[in-house]
Amino acid sequence: MKQRVTARAPINIALCKYWGKRDTKNILPFTDSISLTLQELYTETTVEYTPKSDFSVTMNGKELNKKDRQKIYNFCLLFAHDDTLNIHINTHNSGPTSAGLASSASGFSALAVALNEFYERQYDIDELTTITRKGSGSAVRSLLSGFVKWQRNGLIQKITDAPHDLVVIAVIINDQVKSISSRDAMKIGVETSPFFRTFVERNQEIANEMTQALTPFDFERVGELTEQSTALMHNVMKTSDPVIDYVSAESQAFLSAIKQFNNSKRKLFITMDAGPNIKIFTRKKDLDSVISYINTLGYKEYHILSPGDYARVIDDE
Ligand code: PMV
Repeated sequence: MKQRVTARAPINIALCKYWGKRDTKNILPFTDSISLTLQELYTETTVEYTPKSDFSVTMNGKELNKKDRQKIYNFCLLFAHDDTLNIHINTHNSGPTSAGLASSASGFSALAVALNEFYERQYDIDELTTITRKGSGSAVRSLLSGFVKWQRNGLIQKITDAPHDLVVIAVIINDQVKSISSRDAMKIGVETSPFFRTFVERNQEIANEMTQALTPFDFERVGELTEQSTALMHNVMKTSDPVIDYVSAESQAFLSAIKQFNNSKRKLFITMDAGPNIKIFTRKKDLDSVISYINTLGYKEYHILSPGDYARVIDDE
């Protein structure tokens, strides 16, 4: 066991969505999903030995509540050699937490990589994926860089690097913590949405078609498929009982306005996850004009993100 390990993991944004587990024990998804790992929003997590018999977790400077602390404790047990966890975990997100900006993906990915080193497990990527997805399914995609596929069989695969001129703008519509977790929301969708079967069939086709459209990178086709997968996922939410709606009226107004930007030729495509914030994919040559347009719509809070590196240890004692 090490004394102190720090890992950093970037967020990833899904172009082809993960929504629903076909196996809730082993965390296996109904369909493949595909994401892009991004650089500027990330989680940094330090796992440190404490001589007192104590387990504590601080997130963004605050102690975690009992329920979240228990979830982290159970996750740590998947790496520890016994159940005496004399460790302190200190974790920090560079962006908003639990607001649909993939903070749980970067969070569990950073924690898994830190614990793998701290307990000197040396798990390979398949073993690490199998454990990491127990914290958060989407977290496994941050273990690799570029366009990453989380396959239906639970394992991950890098499809290709992103083109150098691709850029993502995460527009903060609202940074409030979401009212229902994606884990609970997807369970309701699987159990109650009459649309869920259609989602599964078409989303798997989208994953296959998108894999083709990524090499060589076809901006137009990847954009169409991303928007289709996003619409399918949100349609499952809207047809769930109770209805789940992460798209606020403000997000809806922004979406309608930004879509006007693509008049004769597609210059951007859009996606949304389990929160009100909006992610816009565009190319560097169009970045300035898209940003000015966002400013004219009255939005001043956004993050400009570029394709980034995978989760890794950054400090180790
Ligand atoms: O792994 P979770 O529970 O954070 O799932 C999040 C799923 C979405 O972000 C809504 C979609 C996706 O594929 O990332």
